[in-house]
Amino acid sequence: PIAFVRGQFVPRDTATIPLMDRGFLFGDGVYEVTAVIERRFVDNGPHLDRLDRSLREIGIANPYDRAEWIGIECELMRRNALDNGLIYIQVTRGVAERDFLFPPDLAPSVVLFAQNRRVQHNPLIEKGAAVITLPDQRWARCDIKSTSLLAQVLAKRAAAQANANEVWMTRDGHITEGASSTAFIVTPDGRLVTRTLSPAILPGVTRRTIMRIADQAGLALAERPFTRDEALGAAEAFYTSASTIAIPVTRIDGRPVANGRPGPVFRSLYDQYMQHVL
Ligand code: PDD
Repeated sequence: PIAFVRGQFVPRDTATIPLMDRGFLFGDGVYEVTAVIERRFVDNGPHLDRLDRSLREIGIANPYDRAEWIGIECELMRRNALDNGLIYIQVTRGVAERDFLFPPDLAPSVVLFAQNRRVQHNPLIEKGAAVITLPDQRWARCDIKSTSLLAQVLAKRAAAQANANEVWMTRDGHITEGASSTAFIVTPDGRLVTRTLSPAILPGVTRRTIMRIADQAGLALAERPFTRDEALGAAEAFYTSASTIAIPVTRIDGRPVANGRPGPVFRSLYDQYMQHVL
């Protein structure tokens, strides 16, 4: 595999980053994950828009313009012969003497690599995923796609220990989002519900596309918080992210959602999403 590391394409597995990179020392950086399906980028524009916003929010100047970003991504795809998979982009504040206060005008460190994977053939799409709920232990700016992911790392370990696939995190009695995904439910009267955008959640790119598809299909939408109990009583539940597209949730905290099988609203949205991509 070939990676892009601070201006150059290099073999991924021997690539290095300076010890004093603030991404390594402070988690002082942001990232994006974009899917590639049959050699097509999935919603690449919105991912690059969100990268730009994350950078702005933490005061790092975007080192590349749109055409340059796309050029690097395309070259990465070419060098890795990537037909299906993920492109990971990370931008950190750069290399400096260790000090919480950062010097002005640091050169950001940019890293990209690709992962070969058939995002569209996840066995969980047929099988359904198990989710557990846990308190959301993240900071107050979850709208920034920060590389500081310790709370999510620990949440995912807890999920694995419970034989679950994802964690739905709760704050003040309501589900915020998945550890690495956006949470959706379908109410018994057929309404698609997901939490309102705020600093409590990442503005998911897949979330936005799924909502647009649902709206065009004539589904009733509601953006509002929902509780674990409402999710347990829902007709369907699912989660979305660039790395999974959409995965039906068939168990929450060990209890089945409806009949415990992936539902028709999920299936139809997933199929329409694939048509939108291909
Ligand atoms: N995670 N919420 C959180 C906390 C996330 O980490 C992600 C994505 C999402 C979904 O966003 P999108 O649809 O734009 O991918 C929501 C990526 C895939 C990751 O960390 O690997």
